Amino acid sequence: MTVAASAPGKVILFGEHFVVHGAPALVASIDLRATTIVERSESGGVRLSTGSRDNPAVRAAEYVLRKLGAAASLLIGIESKIPQSVGLGSSAAVAASCSAATLHLLTGGFDRDMILEASHEGEKTVHYMPSGIDTSIATFGGAGIYTRSSGYKMLSIALDEILIVNTGRQRRTGDLVLKVKKFSERKPELFKQLLDEAGQIVEEGLDHLRSRDLEKLGRLMSRNQELLKIMGVSSPEIEEAIALCLSAGAYGAKLTGAGGGGCVIAVADPDKLDKLILRISERLEAFRVRLGVEGVRIERP
Ligand code: PMV
Repeated sequence: MTVAASAPGKVILFGEHFVVHGAPALVASIDLRATTIVERSESGGVRLSTGSRDNPAVRAAEYVLRKLGAAASLLIGIESKIPQSVGLGSSAAVAASCSAATLHLLTGGFDRDMILEASHEGEKTVHYMPSGIDTSIATFGGAGIYTRSSGYKMLSIALDEILIVNTGRQRRTGDLVLKVKKFSERKPELFKQLLDEAGQIVEEGLDHLRSRDLEKLGRLMSRNQELLKIMGVSSPEIEEAIALCLSAGAYGAKLTGAGGGGCVIAVADPDKLDKLILRISERLEAFRVRLGVEGVRIERP
């Protein structure tokens, strides 16, 4: 028997990095999904159809097996529409979909808490001190606030689409998280100020998201970007992508995820989005995504 499950990618609207250090972050799932197909195999333990074992999916499936006290050889196939290593939560979506498919294959059940736990374990293959935000949004979907201490709280937001620009530069989240940790140790007072301001930005951001004030949201994104830049997680590619968005008419833009390359998000009037995408696409990959989609789900059987 074969089971397929899928989970969404995500954008962090406000608060990445600070969330690792206890501040809240605003996050939304996006309508790009990773699908994982799991089947039993004769032997060989848990492995990907590509032969690789060093992958969040493998680690997550092994965790599910351990939790169930089951021994099985599994073959895992991954089909993902989420670009990798650019801040859109591809590894968490892979880990969540694989956890769900494995659990369903072995028990016929679906348990979001267990899926979250296993996904978090899978994320550790690519992360350094993951806050858990990516795996939470991949598991539960929607949009909301995440904190390390209280986890994910789903909220309704009035923004249903956002512009993504991919700088094309891949990077490792763990390296950037470590960079911020070193910054916080080198400059504890400045870091504390930034952390406090990031918390305020998230609160204000939520107000603007609820009232759908795009202009204020854009300004706040640019402010959030300044804080991230001070900590050294922006990059020339990100700054170029942001400048492109602003000159094309966006209200504001910022990096999303770990930075150091990866993707930029921007807000603009919905009726101008297509024109913006056309202009930006002359230089970089740009597309719109729908926000607040369903979390992990079984696709088949
Ligand atoms: O892996 P990314 O690029 O989506 O970044 C995740 C967000 C961080 O705040 C940088 C790390 C974390 O675990 O919260």
